[in-house]
Amino acid sequence: MRLTVIGTGYLGATHAICMAVMGHDVLGVDVDTAKIEKLASGQVPFFEPGLPELLSKALDSGRLRFTTSFAEAGDFGDVHFICVGTPQQADSEAADLTYVDAAVTVLAPYLRRRALVVGKSTVPVGTAARLAGLLRELAPAGDEAELAWNPEFLREGYAVDDTMRPDRLVFGVTSAWAEERLRDTFEPVLAQGVPVKVTDLQTAELVKVAANSFLATKISYINAMAEICEATGADVHDLAEALAYDDRIGGRFLRPGLGFGGGCLPKDIRAFAYRAEELGVGQAVGFLREIDGINRRRRARTVDLVVEICGGDVAGKRVAALGAAFKPNSDDIRDAPALDVAERLRAAGATVVVYDPAALESARRAHPHLEYSTSALDAARGADVVVLLTEWNEFREIEPSAMAAVVGHRKIVDGRHALDPAGWRAAGWEYRALGRPTMAPLEKEHRR
Ligand code: UDX
Repeated sequence: MRLTVIGTGYLGATHAICMAVMGHDVLGVDVDTAKIEKLASGQVPFFEPGLPELLSKALDSGRLRFTTSFAEAGDFGDVHFICVGTPQQADSEAADLTYVDAAVTVLAPYLRRRALVVGKSTVPVGTAARLAGLLRELAPAGDEAELAWNPEFLREGYAVDDTMRPDRLVFGVTSAWAEERLRDTFEPVLAQGVPVKVTDLQTAELVKVAANSFLATKISYINAMAEICEATGADVHDLAEALAYDDRIGGRFLRPGLGFGGGCLPKDIRAFAYRAEELGVGQAVGFLREIDGINRRRRARTVDLVVEICGGDVAGKRVAALGAAFKPNSDDIRDAPALDVAERLRAAGATVVVYDPAALESARRAHPHLEYSTSALDAARGADVVVLLTEWNEFREIEPSAMAAVVGHRKIVDGRHALDPAGWRAAGWEYRALGRPTMAPLEKEHRR
């Protein structure tokens, strides 16, 4: 099977590489010449564990090539995957479909024989049906140029595993032929027993936004409970653990803290709410605005906690910010809660020194007014307060006494509930986390 993958960002590059490793002949296509040259020379332009090794393997096998030519893509492919971005529009909460529309519009005139175009990008429900019409109209192959939707659920940091062994595949199709093509394409994945759900186009589009909305809701739910804990002195960490024992609830995506960010969850729930309003059913997912609101409040509350631990004012204070990426095992800083908090503290007059194991370069480019260090200990040197903002394992392994030796004041705000409060308190630190009491229960007992 000859495949093209249009758009070679996180999603497309991973898909192209994995499909080639699975035995297909793959052509990766992008309008960004620099990105294409990098990939063709064996370099992955972003941080993704395991992917560089697979890229080398795929290039060595001769089954993976890259191009900027849509004419070449149209000529080459039997199945064309659309993997371009759908960011939030600059002046509204709706998704910006410029890149998806452009990919189909530019590719279609080169489709002269029977071909399947498969959308993987996250789009507002109804987009696929519109694109199917566009394709029929613009492709010389006419009705023989068919559209399908195959949403992608990969998580950054686990992209290879999520592509090779996904929880499920969803094929949104309008013909048995399209389903057959997709079954052939994903044969190595299906052979492992991965379940497949075959649906119409609109259901396939919806599965993706429904899944991300559910995940965002889980995170904001536990963070809402954290707000209640803050008002009552209860401990959200213990609460979450106790809830997780109930199989019906489960513990995943129930980690309280600074909340979600990244290139997907925030913009997907906003675009979903916007689309539902357009369809006249906005009330059905009105709660997503609340989910977004709870999530935004986490960032403000984390800043408040830092201000509080500093005695009411951070002006002139030195803050060590541990973490910049929106989550660990990623260098992605799109809508990163960590950098949002760092910028707010800077705006309040603090000197903020940031360290992140993978995202330093991109953070430096996007936030030139923050200061940067090349290690956690270095960032903490002379700090009035240390703030953990992204839960990298490296930060969990910090020895509280080693960090105590370099800071100005032993004060730490654990924005991700990643550290062991007892260990830090035992080393003389004032440890604070949102939704957790200021003292451990036994300390309270002791003082009584
Ligand atoms: C997400 C979806 O998980 C994935 O299926 C979809 O394809 C793309 O969007 P990703 O953005 O890579 O993937 O990150 P994910 O691991 O889902 O984390 C999202 C955010 O939620 C991160 O900022 C993370 O720190 C936060 N999070 C996650 C929490 O705050 N608490 C949790 O319990 C889990």
